[in-house]
Amino acid sequence: MEFSTKTAAPERLSSACVVAGVFESRKLSPSADALDKATRGQVRELLASGDMEGKPGSTRVLYRLRNIAAERVLLVGLGREKDFGEKQYRDCARAAFAALLETGARDAHLYFAELPVSRRDAAWKARQLALAAADAAYRFDRLKSTKSEAARLANVAICASSKKDAESRERGLREGRAIAAGMALTRDLGNLPANVCTPTYLAEAALKLGREWKLAVEILEQRDMEKLGMGSLLSVSKGSRQPPKLAVLRYSGTSRRERPIVLVGKGITFDTGGISIKPSAEMDEMKFDMCGAASVLGTLRAIAELEPKLNVVGLVPTCENMPGGAASKPGDIVTSMSGQTIEILNTDAEGRLILADALTYAERFEPQAVIDVATLTGACVIALGHVCSGLFSNKDALAGEVLAAAAESWDRVWQLPLWDDYQEQLKSNFADFANIGGRAAGSVTAACFLSRFAKKYDWAHLDIAGTAWRSGKEKGATGRPVPLLTTFLLNRAARK
Ligand code: BES
Ligand code: MN
Ligand code: ZN
Repeated sequence: MEFSTKTAAPERLSSACVVAGVFESRKLSPSADALDKATRGQVRELLASGDMEGKPGSTRVLYRLRNIAAERVLLVGLGREKDFGEKQYRDCARAAFAALLETGARDAHLYFAELPVSRRDAAWKARQLALAAADAAYRFDRLKSTKSEAARLANVAICASSKKDAESRERGLREGRAIAAGMALTRDLGNLPANVCTPTYLAEAALKLGREWKLAVEILEQRDMEKLGMGSLLSVSKGSRQPPKLAVLRYSGTSRRERPIVLVGKGITFDTGGISIKPSAEMDEMKFDMCGAASVLGTLRAIAELEPKLNVVGLVPTCENMPGGAASKPGDIVTSMSGQTIEILNTDAEGRLILADALTYAERFEPQAVIDVATLTGACVIALGHVCSGLFSNKDALAGEVLAAAAESWDRVWQLPLWDDYQEQLKSNFADFANIGGRAAGSVTAACFLSRFAKKYDWAHLDIAGTAWRSGKEKGATGRPVPLLTTFLLNRAARK
């Protein structure tokens, strides 16, 4: 899908479809009003017939209106003007693209940038529009022998009648385009089955990303991890025939002397639970257990395209969690790269084991901050559902920045506590601590475990177990939290 911005009067555009909004009840947006005037009242006449009240999410396609150059006009209900805000803007964008994909239109010109959304500028509106379009058109049919028909809608223009804010619109579009491409990469990697998307495949994907963009990529092999003493990470891959990998990606957007932001993504390409094996219902979804890793790759893809002035390191520890003769057993004690010993009371709490060593490895980059992203706990899904990701941080200022980026991108998070009181649940009689803390506050104790490896820098942890993919009929990776991470990084670069 191609995106562009355009300044033109809606009635004069020769387009397959011009899109304009209508507030409830039948109050025309400026562009809908311009269309009405050009048709000498045809739009209002159609509304008066009772077919369109302007209810949120409702849509109507009108064909070949008098004096209008476009083949179609799509009217989108915006709801009540006084209720119109960020959520309503996003919802009407989604409704518009769903309706557009139902038509045969190859190109569309949308007049949504003129709709007032308090606190958000034209760049925000353009970005949201591009992301809604890309999301509606996303398909994953690589492994089907008959491909679903590609979305016919190929060109999307973000329009306004006046030049005002044209630059801001263009900037938002550029960001939206890059974030959408990053999300598509994240979704594709997530959706691939675990027999294709192995640790080796993920490492290859990192190398490919490095060749395509200005990224330096290095892959640490099992022997490198052994030399580094990554006993925690290696204990997870032991049961698998697939060798573990640790991909290190570097984006350099500013002086080498400037300390980087490090992103760490959990890359379990399949999580059976290991010897503490999972029940078989819906176990297929554990192919998504590498979505944190995929989101780090997707974010670096977006950042490489947008070229902000900062340095970013991506760390992708990846392996399979399998049972087998060589697998870790409950009660096994391993020594992590940090030197701390861990009693593995449950082999299904493996994500924290691979992240632990990756977090220690992150120290060598002397980071400004480290953010890890992981489908870490089922408990997070119970606590927060599929709406927001869980946020934990050892630094309030950093948490504040992540919260702001989440609100701006609508890739939302909710902060949970990381108080010392919870650390007690990790006590072990035989090692420095255990890898589980019991049923109570499972997401918090998982974060507490990670915090023991993140003491040397500002750190935030995102538990994306509920947000990285959807189940049921719409099963598939969402591409989150690429919008959040990219927004966070762009804002960090702009802060200086
Ligand atoms: N990958 C899972 C977490 C998960 C489960 C995400 C279901 C999304 C849906 C993780 O490795 C895991 O198995 N966690 C355990 C931890 C427990 C053993 C302390 C869990 O959440 O049950
Ligand atoms: Mn697990
Ligand atoms: Zn897992």
